[in-house]
Amino acid sequence: MIDQASPADAGAEARDVRLAAVVLAAGKGARMQSRHPKVLHRVAGRAILWHVLAALREAGIPAERTAIVVGVGEPAAAVRAAVEAWFGAGRYRFAQQAAPLGTAHAVLVAQEAVPAGTGTILVAYGDTPLLQAATISRLLAHHRSSGAVLTLAAGYLGDPSGYGRLVRDGQGELRAIVEERDATAEQRAIREVNSGFCVFDAAWLWQHLPRVPVAPNGERYLTALAGMAVEAGDRVATLVLDDVIEALGVNTRAALAEAEAILRRRIATQLMEAGVTLQDPATTYIDAGIVVGPDTIILANTHLAGQTIVGSECELGPNTIVRDSVIGDRCRVLASVLDGAKLEAEVTVGPFAHLRPGTWCGRASHVGTGSEIKASSLGPGSRMGHFGYLGDAMVGASVNLGAGMVTCNFDGERKHPTRIDDGAFIGSGTMLVAPVHVGAGALTGAGAVVTRDVEPEAKVVGVPARPIGRRSRPAAAGVAGREERGDPPR
Ligand code: UD1
Ligand code: CA
Repeated sequence: MIDQASPADAGAEARDVRLAAVVLAAGKGARMQSRHPKVLHRVAGRAILWHVLAALREAGIPAERTAIVVGVGEPAAAVRAAVEAWFGAGRYRFAQQAAPLGTAHAVLVAQEAVPAGTGTILVAYGDTPLLQAATISRLLAHHRSSGAVLTLAAGYLGDPSGYGRLVRDGQGELRAIVEERDATAEQRAIREVNSGFCVFDAAWLWQHLPRVPVAPNGERYLTALAGMAVEAGDRVATLVLDDVIEALGVNTRAALAEAEAILRRRIATQLMEAGVTLQDPATTYIDAGIVVGPDTIILANTHLAGQTIVGSECELGPNTIVRDSVIGDRCRVLASVLDGAKLEAEVTVGPFAHLRPGTWCGRASHVGTGSEIKASSLGPGSRMGHFGYLGDAMVGASVNLGAGMVTCNFDGERKHPTRIDDGAFIGSGTMLVAPVHVGAGALTGAGAVVTRDVEPEAKVVGVPARPIGRRSRPAAAGVAGREERGDPPR
């Protein structure tokens, strides 16, 4: 099979077309006490399984060479749908395990989904969100150089409870892996644990997997293969990780919180190394995969979530929540909530603004205290300083929106649009009853209730608003040309 790795998937192993991965995600996750499949619980804003698949891709193992073992029924359908939503339909191969009869049984079930001609198989558990691409690459390299039939990643934990223990002989050679539930008191004292990431020679694996015995709890353990290889005189290699916490398997809500804390620290460190200042990493919550430009300062209690991109030299926070938004360079957002908004460069927002989906703020525009915007564009240099509402509105450049102005966009049944052209001045407390169009350079008086379109340069006042002649203003109040301003993308 030709490797279809996209550039994003390219890694050290990308050219090894005989390599495939099997990811186990069919367990019940009973210890989570949840209605939802364990691998779909989130860590740093992304599902546990997403992290595992992202690490495999980054290590050069593409979706087309990765088989995911799921269970049956609703949870399995949910896992499949989630994977297709993240990475596209029809890319990953799935295998169904009718009952969770153990990790060895799960890999056996995956055999039909592994591409023909595969020579090396990496197995990862779907509940390990801290797995990193570099570790996968190291494990594969170790497997290639050792010539073993099985190479497994292990490490030492202060508290090894819950993990399989590596039993070694007097010479330090691995003899077997013993699961905690079957371990003697002496074996439980061993602090060297099995990470769960392992690499097999494919032919050896398919030959030995059907012979794995049933453990006392009725499951067939993948880890039994280590002891079976030793007994058969086949070579088993171990890669001892410095920080085996990377193998943390999320079995409980407590482990979920632990993984969350570790991953957030990792994300914070990566951002700081890339030139971002975090005033207080402990109260900064940044989801995996978010891009932040250098010299941006993130102040305490700021959340960056979803598909968010932040430019350079911005200052965000304190007390700011940004989700699925794009923020240009040199913006300032103070104590505000952004959801599905796009800010061009040099925009200032807050305090206490709420920018909802479909908000576009042009270069150097300003949204001040207690203002809300939804499905609207605010042109370059326009200002909305104090507690206003813009809904379904298209506001041109250099417009002044006075304190407490409102686009009355909803008539109880339908939403209607408002258009305010360049250079207009909307007086404080103006109600713009949509659909309505205020022409360029026009002015509305304080408290005006505008129910009809306003001519360019006209002046309207009162309830309902009536024209009282033309607006008089300094000749210098012109606005920049449309291209230079960078008008909204619509
Ligand atoms: C497993 C290992 C243990 C290791 C630990 C590392 C076995 C027997 N034990 O224990 O040595 O230290 O992981 O985290 O492998 N799954 C299936 N089908 C099944 C059973 C499990 O797909 O029939 C999946 C689960 O969804 C999970 C993964 O395999 O993603 C691991 O299973 P889990 O029950 O969490 O194993 P642990 O007890 O944590
Ligand atoms: Ca586990």
